[in-house]
Amino acid sequence: NKGKYEHYMQKEIHEQPESLTTTMRGRLIRGGSCKAKSVLLGGLKDHLKTIRRSRRIVFIGCGTSYNAALAARPILEELSGIPVTMEVASDLLDRQGPIYREDTAVFVSQSGETADTLQALEYALENGALCVGITNTVGSAIARNTHCGVHINAGCEIGVASTKAYTSQIVVMAMLALAIGDDTISSQARREAIIDGLFDLPGKVKEVLKLDQEMKDLAKLLIAEQSLLVFGRGYNYATALEGALKVKEVALMHSEGILAGEMKHGPLALVDETLPIVVIATRDACFSKQQSVIQQLHARKGRLIVMCTEGDAASVCVGGSSRVIEVPRVEDCLQPVINIVPLQLLAYHLTVLRGYNVDQPRNLAKSVTTQ
Ligand code: UD1
Ligand code: F6R
Repeated sequence: NKGKYEHYMQKEIHEQPESLTTTMRGRLIRGGSCKAKSVLLGGLKDHLKTIRRSRRIVFIGCGTSYNAALAARPILEELSGIPVTMEVASDLLDRQGPIYREDTAVFVSQSGETADTLQALEYALENGALCVGITNTVGSAIARNTHCGVHINAGCEIGVASTKAYTSQIVVMAMLALAIGDDTISSQARREAIIDGLFDLPGKVKEVLKLDQEMKDLAKLLIAEQSLLVFGRGYNYATALEGALKVKEVALMHSEGILAGEMKHGPLALVDETLPIVVIATRDACFSKQQSVIQQLHARKGRLIVMCTEGDAASVCVGGSSRVIEVPRVEDCLQPVINIVPLQLLAYHLTVLRGYNVDQPRNLAKSVTTQ
């Protein structure tokens, strides 16, 4: 049931304030006079000690689920102090990469049925790792076969392009980082700030959804383009990859997410007056580096669309020629949840304007159960 919406993808984008609320329901503890703010993940509480003792945490997934894990990687590294590595499920299988008993392997999958991820799970089980699932589908193969896990509770996702599951996955993995780091006194203030940020997040997502018309106007400008680049780094490298994946898979436009720190090692050669480039430059520890990236792209006459924090337009607009997307500021590690929303809206409107099928992009299936 699409309700007042024309497409499931549109409905699922706009329902994110509610899906995120459901994801967090009963899992955030407000604290009080004698109790610290904390998170409670029922499916993990008996396994946290084992996870904290592991030598490495390995995230394994495909497509959007991989990108969600990439978005959560920095905060998990920060709060756990454990090395976190990333594996695309098919690539881990192709390489038969090493997985050890001392590893915690985290399998991220909306459907819980993706063949590559499921096969990587069997492989990790054979190798003796602790296997944790993060899925949206109760009773799915990945939920059943992992040792423990967390249901993201985002509600049924029907559009083939994953949107609300992505933001809920990031929130669950941020909560996972908080739960693992829970025994560390030195990071308590940081953790409490993130928990406050989680409480405020649905409201901030509601605010960023007001950019709908602005993104539709931007889509009109980009309707006939061949290609779109998205530059990000740090917490928002994942946003660049995921924004590009949305544009590519539904609007059928070539799009590439680029790690801004790699710009000079190749991508800069593509920059000219015609190719549109989205640069994500919201406030965090990487902001000044992104300002310098903007300057360098501008010096090569790049056609820039800069995503920045509200009130920052003047500090990111060199020469005043770029278009700006201003988004509300949240705690740095949660900013990817906000920043992906305008790009989801852009991909959606581009698709509708270009006359393609939004909910069933050609050649794609919601759940990839064959290899
Ligand atoms: C659980 C209940 C929820 C109830 C809540 C109240 C279920 C599915 N969830 O939620 O309805 O409101 O208690 O306390 O009944 N698991 C895996 N792999 C996965 C995902 C989950 O093994 O990929 C396991 C977990 O370790 C856990 C169980 O499935 O044992 C349920 O997980 P989850 O729904 O996340 O737990 P709660 O949030 O505690
Ligand atoms: C992109 C998309 C795919 C899936 C991928 C993994 O919008 O939907 O990239 O993310 O096929 O699917 P799950 O998460 O079900 O394992």
